[in-house]
Parts: sequence; structure tokens; C-alpha cells
Amino acid sequence: MASPLDVFRADALAGHVAVITGGGTGICKGIARAYARLGCRVCITSRKQDVLDATAAELRAETGQDVLALAADVRDPDAIARVLDAARARFGKLDTLVNGAAGNFLAPATALSPNAFRTVVEIDLVGSFHAARAAFAALRDAGDGLVLNITATLHYHGTPLQLHASAAKAGVDAMTRNLAVEWGGAGVRVVSIAPGPIGDTEGMRRLAPGDAAARAKRGIPLGRFGEIDEIAAAAVFLRSAAAAYVTGTVLVVDGGHCVNQPMMLMS
Ligand code: COA
Ligand code: NAP
Repeated sequence: MASPLDVFRADALAGHVAVITGGGTGICKGIARAYARLGCRVCITSRKQDVLDATAAELRAETGQDVLALAADVRDPDAIARVLDAARARFGKLDTLVNGAAGNFLAPATALSPNAFRTVVEIDLVGSFHAARAAFAALRDAGDGLVLNITATLHYHGTPLQLHASAAKAGVDAMTRNLAVEWGGAGVRVVSIAPGPIGDTEGMRRLAPGDAAARAKRGIPLGRFGEIDEIAAAAVFLRSAAAAYVTGTVLVVDGGHCVNQPMMLMS
């Protein structure tokens, strides 16, 4: 079956080395697969070593690439720094960090305990900062470094039951702009991809369970959920030389979901 990745040359990412947080599952597993398929050496990291090992074995068999799998919690700055160092030591360089690790659940603001709010902000926002901070020297030394943050469109509007994740992802997009400005002179680009609703992911299982999925599709101009490979294709573009002048921006890949504002009479 045709994949959006088929448009890329087989060696489009040859010579690159990426660490992908959250790379054992879902969207970021798709990014890891696409990167490895196109010649990038990849290290995936998240909390669960068994999940990472299974994904790495699958990707090695599928792509023939050396895929490293190292567990770390992004909330622990030393642990994520050790993973970045190990990937650089194994592959001789590190030029790409994909910050995909995240946590989310549906909860009204009144039901969010201080620890619930803090947990999501610490994984999505503070964890992305820990990884970017620890990766900076390697990304600078590589000459064409990239930080790719996986955010969302939740914070473009007041999304119900999503205060914690909206606050976290808004912070990540702010970090994208600030780091792009501070690190551009060091040759490091910093960008976000904001996926809309993507099918067959833990995110959508949590945010649109059961009948909610069909209702959610009605609000998407393209009339369907996105596919993991459609986010992976955007991630390949942003890593490739084709995006060498792209930094400090958010690429929204959402089928038009976030610009859809149905008139009251029509909804
Ligand atoms: N509603 C309200 N609060 C919730 C909740 C829910 N559905 N799920 C968890 N919490 C609260 C917990 O009660 C706890 O707060 P408390 O200590 O005041 O009771 C706090 O969040 C932390 O929960 P805990 O389970 O200890 O956190 P964790 O670090 O083990 O796991 C989560 C982090 C909660 C985000 C967990 O869902 C997770 O691991 N998610 C990863 C996968 C994922 O979310 N994928 C989708 C990405 S978009
Ligand atoms: P997912 O499969 O659950 O991915 C989240 C990953 O983060 C998991 O691999 C998880 O692995 C890892 N993780 C969670 N907490 C961590 C921690 N403390 N330290 C290290 N790793 C941690 O969900 P997904 O739906 O594919 O989401 C992937 C990304 O896309 C997220 O950033 C999400 O916000 C974003 N997004 C998704 C959608 C969607 O429609 N699905 C829409 C918009 C944005 P472990 O459990 O092993 O740690």
C-alpha cells in the first residue's frame, strides 16, 4: 500500500543520528520507523525497557538499521542526559532530538490535583527542556542540529478537560520559539509539529474513546483522523535538507481541525 513516505529518496536521512523520546509507541514509533527506513541511526527512549526492546527489534528487522533502546524518565535530567550521551557514543554524533514523550488524560480542571497538573507539565514541558538542554552541545557540534518538539493544537482554543495538556504544550511551543532564537547562531534549528487527531494512537484512545471518535471526525474538514505516517512524513521533511531554512515555527498537521469554526446556525 502507498505510504506518504514513498515520496522520499531511500537515503534522504543517511548520516543523521536521532534520539526520539516516546519512540517505543504510537506517533513517535512511526517517526523512528520512518527515520530508520530513510537511513538515520536512531535511539528510542521512554520509561519501559521491554516496550523499547520490542520496538527496536521490530525496526531493526524491518529497516536493517542499528536501533538503540535505552530507558529513561524525561523528568529525570540525569537519566535523559545519560541516554543522549550513550547514543552519541554509540553512533559518533547526535544531530537530532525528537521530544515526543507525553502524558495525558481527560479531566476537568476541578478534578486535577496539584500532582496531576504537575505530572503532565513535568513530562511534556519540563521533560522536553531537560532533553533539549542536555542535547545542545552535541547538536551544536554536529553542525546541523535539530530539536523537533511534538506538541498539539489543544491550546489554540479553550479545549475542555485539557487544561493540563494545553498548558504543557503551549509551553513547549514557546520553548520552540525561544530556543530557535537563542540557538540559531549555533546552527541548531528548533521546530514543533502539532498533530491533530491521529488514528490508532494512545492519545486518541484516551481523548476520544468510543462514540466520541465519530463525533470528532465531523469537526475535521478533511473528514478523517490523520495517520501516523502523515506525521512521520512531516518529521522527515523537517529533519531533511529541504527544511534547512525552517526554524522557530509550528507545522500543524491536522486535516484543518484547528481552523474549523462552524457557524452557530450550521453546527
Ligand atoms: N484524571 C485525573 N487525575 C489523574 C488521572 C485522570 N484520568 N490519571 C492520573 N491522574 C493523576 C493521579 O491521580 C496523580 O495525582 P495524585 O497523586 O494527586 O493522585 C497524578 O495524576 C500522577 O499520576 P501517576 O499515575 O502517579 O503518574 P505517572 O507518572 O505514573 O503516569 C500519566 C503519568 C498519569 C500521564 C499516565 O497516564 C501515563 O503514564 N501516560 C503515558 C501515556 C499517555 O498518556 N499517552 C498519551 C499521550 S497524548
Ligand atoms: P503514546 O503512544 O502514549 O506516546 C507517548 C510516549 O511517551 C510513550 O511511548 C511513553 O512511553 C512515553 N512517556 C510517557 N511518559 C514518559 C516519561 N515520563 N518519560 C519518558 N517517556 C515517557 O501516545 P501518542 O498518541 O502516540 O502521542 C505521541 C505524541 O504526540 C505526544 O507528544 C502527544 O502529546 C502528541 N500528540 C498526539 C496526538 C494524537 O492524536 N495521538 C495529537 C496531538 C499530539 P513509556 O510509557 O514507556 O514511558
